[in-house]
Amino acid sequence: MKKRKNIITVAIDSPAAAGAGTQAKLLAKHFNLLYLDTGKIYRYIGKLKIKTGSKFTHSFVKKKIDKMKLNYLKNKTLLSNEVAIMASIIARDKKIRDIVQKFQQKCAYQPPLKYRGSVLDGRDIITIQVKDAMFKFYITASLKVRAKRRFREYKNLNKKISYKEVVKSLRIRDKSDKERKYGPLKKTKESILINTTKLSKKACFNKIKAIMEKKLNN
Ligand code: C5P
Repeated sequence: MKKRKNIITVAIDSPAAAGAGTQAKLLAKHFNLLYLDTGKIYRYIGKLKIKTGSKFTHSFVKKKIDKMKLNYLKNKTLLSNEVAIMASIIARDKKIRDIVQKFQQKCAYQPPLKYRGSVLDGRDIITIQVKDAMFKFYITASLKVRAKRRFREYKNLNKKISYKEVVKSLRIRDKSDKERKYGPLKKTKESILINTTKLSKKACFNKIKAIMEKKLNN
Protein backbone atom coordinates (compact mmCIF):
# COMPACT_ATOMS: atom_id res chain seq x y z
CA MET A 1 0.00 0.00 0.00
CA LYS A 2 1.46 3.38 -1.11
CA LYS A 3 1.44 5.89 1.73
CA ARG A 4 0.96 9.64 1.46
CA LYS A 5 3.92 11.25 3.23
CA ASN A 6 3.72 13.43 6.33
CA ILE A 7 0.12 12.71 7.15
CA ILE A 8 -1.44 12.37 10.59
CA THR A 9 -2.76 8.85 11.17
CA VAL A 10 -4.98 8.11 14.16
CA ALA A 11 -5.94 4.52 14.97
CA ILE A 12 -8.63 3.76 17.54
CA ASP A 13 -9.76 0.37 18.79
CA SER A 14 -12.70 -0.05 21.14
CA PRO A 15 -15.57 -2.31 22.12
CA ALA A 16 -19.04 -1.33 20.85
CA ALA A 17 -20.64 1.87 22.13
CA ALA A 18 -17.60 3.06 24.11
CA GLY A 19 -17.66 6.49 22.47
CA ALA A 20 -14.90 5.89 19.90
CA GLY A 21 -17.03 7.06 16.97
CA THR A 22 -17.98 10.28 18.74
CA GLN A 23 -14.35 11.04 19.56
CA ALA A 24 -13.14 10.08 16.07
CA LYS A 25 -15.65 12.48 14.50
CA LEU A 26 -14.57 15.32 16.79
CA LEU A 27 -10.91 14.63 16.02
CA ALA A 28 -11.61 14.50 12.29
CA LYS A 29 -13.25 17.90 12.44
CA HIS A 30 -10.66 19.51 14.68
CA PHE A 31 -7.56 18.22 12.87
CA ASN A 32 -9.12 18.07 9.40
CA LEU A 33 -8.84 14.30 8.96
CA LEU A 34 -10.78 11.80 6.87
CA TYR A 35 -12.92 9.71 9.22
CA LEU A 36 -13.69 6.05 8.55
CA ASP A 37 -16.00 4.15 10.89
CA THR A 38 -14.81 0.65 9.94
CA GLY A 39 -17.63 -1.03 11.87
CA LYS A 40 -20.00 0.39 9.26
CA ILE A 41 -18.26 -1.67 6.56
CA TYR A 42 -18.92 -4.87 8.53
CA ARG A 43 -22.48 -3.69 9.12
CA TYR A 44 -22.88 -3.07 5.38
CA ILE A 45 -21.71 -6.64 4.72
CA GLY A 46 -23.90 -7.95 7.55
CA LYS A 47 -26.90 -6.28 5.96
CA LEU A 48 -26.01 -7.81 2.59
CA LYS A 49 -25.98 -11.22 4.28
CA ILE A 50 -29.42 -10.64 5.82
CA LYS A 51 -30.83 -9.40 2.51
CA THR A 52 -29.28 -11.79 0.02
CA GLY A 53 -29.13 -15.16 1.82
CA SER A 54 -27.76 -17.81 -0.56
CA LYS A 55 -26.32 -15.23 -3.01
CA PHE A 56 -23.89 -14.25 -0.26
CA THR A 57 -20.46 -15.57 -1.29
CA HIS A 58 -16.94 -14.16 -0.90
CA SER A 59 -16.79 -13.09 -4.54
CA PHE A 60 -20.18 -11.37 -4.19
CA VAL A 61 -18.92 -9.48 -1.11
CA LYS A 62 -15.66 -8.55 -2.90
CA LYS A 63 -17.58 -7.07 -5.86
CA LYS A 64 -19.78 -5.05 -3.51
CA ILE A 65 -16.82 -3.73 -1.49
CA ASP A 66 -14.88 -2.86 -4.67
CA LYS A 67 -17.82 -0.68 -5.71
CA MET A 68 -18.61 0.69 -2.27
CA LYS A 69 -18.62 4.48 -1.76
CA LEU A 70 -18.11 6.16 1.62
CA ASN A 71 -21.62 7.59 1.57
CA TYR A 72 -23.15 4.07 1.49
CA LEU A 73 -21.98 3.83 5.10
CA LYS A 74 -24.24 6.69 6.16
CA ASN A 75 -27.37 4.61 5.55
CA LYS A 76 -29.48 4.65 8.73
CA THR A 77 -30.56 1.02 8.27
CA LEU A 78 -27.01 0.00 9.24
CA LEU A 79 -27.68 1.18 12.79
CA SER A 80 -30.08 -1.59 13.83
CA ASN A 81 -29.25 -4.20 16.48
CA GLU A 82 -30.01 -7.02 14.05
CA VAL A 83 -27.43 -5.68 11.58
CA ALA A 84 -24.88 -5.14 14.40
CA ILE A 85 -25.17 -8.78 15.48
CA MET A 86 -24.87 -10.06 11.92
CA ALA A 87 -21.85 -7.76 11.40
CA SER A 88 -20.06 -9.37 14.31
CA ILE A 89 -20.84 -12.85 12.94
CA ILE A 90 -19.53 -12.21 9.43
CA ALA A 91 -16.53 -10.31 10.91
CA ARG A 92 -15.11 -13.63 12.18
CA ASP A 93 -14.49 -14.72 8.60
CA LYS A 94 -10.84 -14.21 7.59
CA LYS A 95 -11.66 -13.88 3.88
CA ILE A 96 -14.17 -11.13 4.61
CA ARG A 97 -11.64 -9.32 6.81
CA ASP A 98 -9.09 -9.50 3.98
CA ILE A 99 -11.60 -8.07 1.49
CA VAL A 100 -12.27 -5.11 3.79
CA GLN A 101 -8.57 -4.45 4.44
CA LYS A 102 -7.73 -2.75 1.13
CA PHE A 103 -10.57 -0.26 1.44
CA GLN A 104 -9.61 0.60 5.03
CA GLN A 105 -5.91 1.02 4.33
CA LYS A 106 -6.59 3.19 1.31
CA CYS A 107 -8.59 5.55 3.52
CA ALA A 108 -5.91 5.46 6.22
CA TYR A 109 -2.85 5.98 4.05
CA GLN A 110 -4.17 7.77 0.96
CA PRO A 111 -6.81 10.19 2.23
CA PRO A 112 -7.83 12.85 -0.34
CA LEU A 113 -5.41 15.80 -0.44
CA LYS A 114 -7.89 18.15 1.19
CA TYR A 115 -7.32 16.23 4.46
CA ARG A 116 -4.23 16.35 6.69
CA GLY A 117 -4.59 12.66 7.39
CA SER A 118 -7.03 10.06 8.65
CA VAL A 119 -8.73 8.66 11.71
CA LEU A 120 -10.09 5.11 11.70
CA ASP A 121 -11.95 3.36 14.48
CA GLY A 122 -12.81 -0.32 14.85
CA ARG A 123 -11.52 -3.49 16.50
CA ASP A 124 -8.27 -4.31 14.67
CA ILE A 125 -7.11 -0.87 13.57
CA ILE A 126 -4.04 -0.68 15.82
CA THR A 127 -3.27 -4.39 15.73
CA ILE A 128 -3.58 -4.95 11.95
CA GLN A 129 -4.86 -2.14 9.73
CA VAL A 130 -2.73 0.88 10.68
CA LYS A 131 0.00 -0.69 12.80
CA ASP A 132 2.33 2.29 12.28
CA ALA A 133 -0.26 4.93 13.17
CA MET A 134 1.12 8.14 14.60
CA PHE A 135 -1.51 8.01 17.38
CA LYS A 136 -3.01 4.88 18.92
CA PHE A 137 -5.91 5.02 21.35
CA TYR A 138 -7.83 2.22 23.03
CA ILE A 139 -11.18 3.67 24.09
CA THR A 140 -13.38 1.77 26.50
CA ALA A 141 -16.13 2.14 29.12
CA SER A 142 -18.03 -0.16 31.47
CA LEU A 143 -20.66 -2.44 29.94
CA LYS A 144 -23.40 -0.67 31.88
CA VAL A 145 -22.47 2.79 30.62
CA ARG A 146 -22.06 1.55 27.06
CA ALA A 147 -25.45 -0.14 27.17
CA LYS A 148 -27.10 3.01 28.54
CA ARG A 149 -25.60 5.12 25.76
CA ARG A 150 -26.58 2.65 23.03
CA PHE A 151 -30.11 2.28 24.47
CA ARG A 152 -30.51 6.08 24.35
CA GLU A 153 -29.33 6.14 20.73
CA TYR A 154 -31.85 3.44 19.78
CA LYS A 155 -34.61 5.40 21.52
CA ASN A 156 -33.71 8.53 19.56
CA LEU A 157 -33.90 6.48 16.36
CA ASN A 158 -37.31 5.13 17.41
CA LYS A 159 -35.99 1.56 17.50
CA LYS A 160 -38.02 -0.78 19.65
CA ILE A 161 -35.54 -2.58 21.85
CA SER A 162 -35.34 -3.01 25.63
CA TYR A 163 -32.35 -2.02 27.77
CA LYS A 164 -31.93 -5.70 28.69
CA GLU A 165 -31.68 -6.70 25.04
CA VAL A 166 -29.05 -4.01 24.46
CA VAL A 167 -26.94 -5.36 27.35
CA LYS A 168 -27.29 -8.89 26.01
CA SER A 169 -26.34 -7.87 22.49
CA LEU A 170 -23.25 -5.93 23.63
CA ARG A 171 -22.18 -8.89 25.78
CA ILE A 172 -22.47 -11.31 22.86
CA ARG A 173 -20.56 -8.98 20.54
CA ASP A 174 -17.84 -8.23 23.13
CA LYS A 175 -17.24 -11.95 23.55
CA SER A 176 -17.22 -12.70 19.84
CA ASP A 177 -15.03 -9.67 18.98
CA LYS A 178 -12.46 -10.43 21.71
CA GLU A 179 -12.27 -14.20 21.35
CA ARG A 180 -12.33 -14.67 17.58
CA LYS A 181 -9.29 -16.03 15.80
CA TYR A 182 -8.77 -13.27 13.22
CA GLY A 183 -8.48 -9.61 14.14
CA PRO A 184 -9.67 -9.92 17.74
CA LEU A 185 -10.12 -6.78 19.80
CA LYS A 186 -7.27 -6.33 22.25
CA LYS A 187 -5.35 -3.48 23.77
CA THR A 188 -1.73 -3.32 22.69
CA LYS A 189 0.99 -2.09 25.06
CA GLU A 190 1.72 1.04 23.09
CA SER A 191 -1.87 2.24 22.77
CA ILE A 192 -3.10 4.91 25.13
CA LEU A 193 -6.03 3.84 27.26
CA ILE A 194 -8.97 6.25 27.42
CA ASN A 195 -11.72 5.11 29.77
CA THR A 196 -14.87 7.12 29.03
CA THR A 197 -17.02 5.62 31.81
CA LYS A 198 -16.90 8.74 33.94
CA LEU A 199 -15.84 11.26 31.32
CA SER A 200 -18.09 13.60 29.37
CA LYS A 201 -17.66 13.77 25.58
CA LYS A 202 -15.94 17.12 25.99
CA ALA A 203 -13.57 15.98 28.75
CA CYS A 204 -12.64 12.94 26.74
CA PHE A 205 -12.03 15.00 23.61
CA ASN A 206 -9.87 17.51 25.51
CA LYS A 207 -7.76 14.70 26.88
CA ILE A 208 -7.13 13.14 23.45
CA LYS A 209 -6.63 16.51 21.78
CA ALA A 210 -4.00 17.51 24.37
CA ILE A 211 -2.07 14.27 23.78
CA MET A 212 -2.12 14.84 20.04
CA GLU A 213 -1.24 18.52 20.16
CA LYS A 214 1.71 17.87 22.44
CA LYS A 215 3.27 15.53 19.88
CA LEU A 216 2.27 17.54 16.81
CA ASN A 217 3.67 20.78 18.20
CA ASN A 218 6.99 19.26 19.16
O1 C5P B 1 -18.28 -0.64 15.62
P1 C5P B 1 -19.57 -1.36 15.31
O2 C5P B 1 -20.32 -1.73 16.51
O3 C5P B 1 -20.40 -0.66 14.31
O4 C5P B 1 -19.08 -2.73 14.60
C1 C5P B 1 -19.96 -3.75 14.22
C2 C5P B 1 -19.21 -5.08 14.25
O5 C5P B 1 -18.25 -5.08 13.20
C3 C5P B 1 -18.41 -5.35 15.51
O6 C5P B 1 -19.15 -5.99 16.53
C4 C5P B 1 -17.26 -6.21 15.03
O7 C5P B 1 -17.58 -7.58 15.05
C5 C5P B 1 -17.09 -5.81 13.58
N1 C5P B 1 -15.89 -5.00 13.38
C6 C5P B 1 -14.70 -5.67 13.20
N2 C5P B 1 -13.56 -4.97 12.93
C7 C5P B 1 -13.57 -3.64 12.87
C8 C5P B 1 -14.78 -2.92 13.07
C9 C5P B 1 -15.92 -3.64 13.35
O8 C5P B 1 -14.65 -6.87 13.27
N3 C5P B 1 -12.44 -2.99 12.57
